[in-house]
Amino acid sequence: PEKAVAAMAKQAPDSLAELNRLIQRSEPLVPGATQAVLGEGPEGAAIAIVGEQPGDQEDREGRPFVGPAGQLLTAALEEAGVDRGGLYLTNAVKHFKFVQRGKRRIHQSPTSGEVKHYRWWLMTELGFVRPRLVVALGATAALALSGRPVSVLRERGPMAFDGRNGDGRNGDGWNGFVTVHPSYLLRLPGDEERRRAQAEFVADLRRAAALA
Ligand code: URA
Repeated sequence: PEKAVAAMAKQAPDSLAELNRLIQRSEPLVPGATQAVLGEGPEGAAIAIVGEQPGDQEDREGRPFVGPAGQLLTAALEEAGVDRGGLYLTNAVKHFKFVQRGKRRIHQSPTSGEVKHYRWWLMTELGFVRPRLVVALGATAALALSGRPVSVLRERGPMAFDGRNGDGRNGDGWNGFVTVHPSYLLRLPGDEERRRAQAEFVADLRRAAALA
C-alpha cells in the first residue's frame, strides 16, 4: 500500500470532481467490482457519513447506501430528524469486495491493508467537502478515519479523527463521531434486541447532528 499511496499523492487533484475522475479510472484493489462508488452530497455539508464499502446493490447502481443497510440508514436519519439530502455520504473503500456463491455475491470485509490503500482518497475527499463533523459507521470507517483499530460498541460517541494526508490540507483532523454500521443492526438475531439497538442508533445520529 505505501507505494500505491505515494503514487496517489503525486496525482494531487485540485477539486472533488477531479479526485472522483481519478477514483473512477483506478483499478479496483479487489477485482470483480462493476464500478467505483463515489461519495454523494453537497460540498460544504455540515456532516459527512462514512460507511465501509459499497454493497451488492450499490455496486450495480453506482450510488452509496441504496441497498438494505442504506435503507435502514435513511429511515434512521429520518427518525432522528436529519435530512439525508443535506449530508455527504461516502465509504472508506470505494469498491465492492465479494465472493461469488452461485448467483449471490457475498460481501467480504476489507483487510486493514485495503483500508489503508483507500485512505488517501477518503482524506482528500473530506478535505474538499470540509464537514464540521465526520460520522464513522462501524469499525472499518472508524479504522480508516482514526488510523487505529476501534472497538465500536465500547468507544461509540464523539472521537477526534486524524485527518492528516501528507499534504496538510486537513490540518489537525476532524471532529468525529463513532457509531455502529446499519448492516450490524440488520444481522442482530432477536426482534427485541434489534429494536433496542436501532433506537440507540437513532439516538446516536441525533446526538451527532447536535454536535455538527
Ligand atoms: N454499506 C456501506 O458501508 N456502504 C454502502 O454504501 C452500502 C452499504
